[in-house]
Parts: sequence; C-alpha cells; structure tokens
Amino acid sequence: MKKMDQIIADYNSLNFESFMSEDEKWFFDTHGYIIVRNVLSRKNANYLIDKFEEWRSMPRKDLPAPMTISPNKNVFQNVHYVEKLYHDLIINDRIMKYVSSVLLHNPRLMFTSVIRLKKDEKKKKNKFTKFIKDGNVLLHRDTNGYNYPFESFINPLIGYQCINGIIHSGYVNVSVTLVDVPKDHGIGLIPGSHKSSFNTPLIESEDPYSEYIQSFKLSAGDAIVFVPNLLHTTRKWKMDYPRYTVFNRYVFGKYVDEGYVGHTFEKYKNNISDELYEMEQKNIHQDKLIVKRLKKIYLN
Ligand SMILES: [Fe+2]
Repeated sequence: MKKMDQIIADYNSLNFESFMSEDEKWFFDTHGYIIVRNVLSRKNANYLIDKFEEWRSMPRKDLPAPMTISPNKNVFQNVHYVEKLYHDLIINDRIMKYVSSVLLHNPRLMFTSVIRLKKDEKKKKNKFTKFIKDGNVLLHRDTNGYNYPFESFINPLIGYQCINGIIHSGYVNVSVTLVDVPKDHGIGLIPGSHKSSFNTPLIESEDPYSEYIQSFKLSAGDAIVFVPNLLHTTRKWKMDYPRYTVFNRYVFGKYVDEGYVGHTFEKYKNNISDELYEMEQKNIHQDKLIVKRLKKIYLN
C-alpha cells in the first residue's frame, strides 16, 4: 500500500482561532461592521482635539516629523509617531481583537489619520458636487482604484469572504470618533452590502436614511470596525462643533502592499514601540508581537 500526504507550510492558518465570540462572528458576518464603545475616555478624546488644533495653528515647517498635514489643514497623518495616545489607540486590544481576527492574525497597519469636518465648510468641487447638493446620497465602497466587473468577485486586496465559519477581509477600517455623534450624523452604511453579488443600481427612495441606510448615535471615544467594501457614506455634519475622527486602516500583511509607501519611517522608529513598528512591516513567518499579546488575552 502506498501513502499520499500533503506538505504543509509551517506558518499557516490551519489551526486558526478567532478572538471573536460566536455571537460577535454572527453579527459581524451579517452586518459587515461592529461597534466598540469607549476605546478612548472623553478626557483623552478632548486632549486629542486640543492637540489637533495646536498642531493646526503651527507653521507647517514646525510640525514634528513624520507627521503630515493636508493642504486644507483638515487631515493629519502619521500622528502615532508624535502622540502616544494615537500610538496606543492603533494597538488597542479591544479594537485589535476584531482587526486581527478578520485579517487571519496577519495585521499590518496601512495608515492612520485624523480628520476634522466643520459645518458648512467649503469643499473642493468635483463631478459629484451637484448630485449631493440636490439632497441625493452618494454611497461608495473603498477600493484601491481597481474595480472588479461584478461586486461578487472577491478582490483579494479588499474582498470579504466567510468560509467554514472563518471570516476574512483583505483589509479593515477602524473609525474612532473624538466627539459625540447624533444618530442622524456621521457614517451611514447599508448593513449586509459587503456580501452583495450585484452591482449597485441607481436606488430611488423617499427617505434613504430610514429605508436603506443605518447610522449610529456615538459618544466621544466610540469606534466602528467595518469592512471596506460595505457600502457607506458620510452624512452632512450639521452640529455647531466640528467633527473629529481618527481613521485607521489595517491590511492583510502577508501579500498586500498596494503600492503604498508610507508604512514605516525608519528614521523615527524609536518614537514607536517594537510592537507597532513590527505591525507596520509585512508579515513574515511567525506571529507578530501584537498577535502573541492578543492570544494571551483572548485564547486563555
Ligand atoms: Fe470610504
């Protein structure tokens, strides 16, 4: 009798164990997002808002590197090299529980940013400006600039799949609000649309936000973890105070680079912990430090 066997690479997902409970897996798979409350205290959220305004008022040349600011001064990037609260938020274990699980425990930080949005602030015009001005809603899926012919094609960079009870998405978004968000503000999304097999038609509705789109009442410091091919939009900000949102994206770190160059700033690597520095690198043949730490928390 001859035997047949298969060679298995040492570093693999065959014994993958999610950090999520069965209830959480059901919710995430069905809806495409999960809310994690109070990952930042209100005191710390306010501190980060003050910091934002302090940086914003500084001459561009005095900003601590490698932090960058957008031309309209409403977006900062690489803030985790400069401010420890951002650093700790990126590797927060209550957030990373979901991020690591959905990335099959191969998390890599793709970018981090913090964004300010003010009521009636003038935005650069583009081809969609008129469409939105008339009260219409423009939904999108995040892409890397390449769309597959049908929504049901699994884009390995972004696409969502769940097989034999294991959830995987090519990358994951985490949005953390630094201010209170009323229910008719903030992110609007269509639950379940991450699993759609159909290209989105032009939808007509008397009230899209009650018929199709879900948004959330959030407190300062609450986070939403969502898969980027969930159809989503940003609702008009009508409050008198500005909206500040931390937006982090994590990617499956074994294969995906997307031509993105800003992963690590070697010159400033001593500003961040070994754990976060490693999480900015591609995944090699062992669990990253953060995954080892999370396994101690969630698998024991
Ligand atoms: Fe988006």
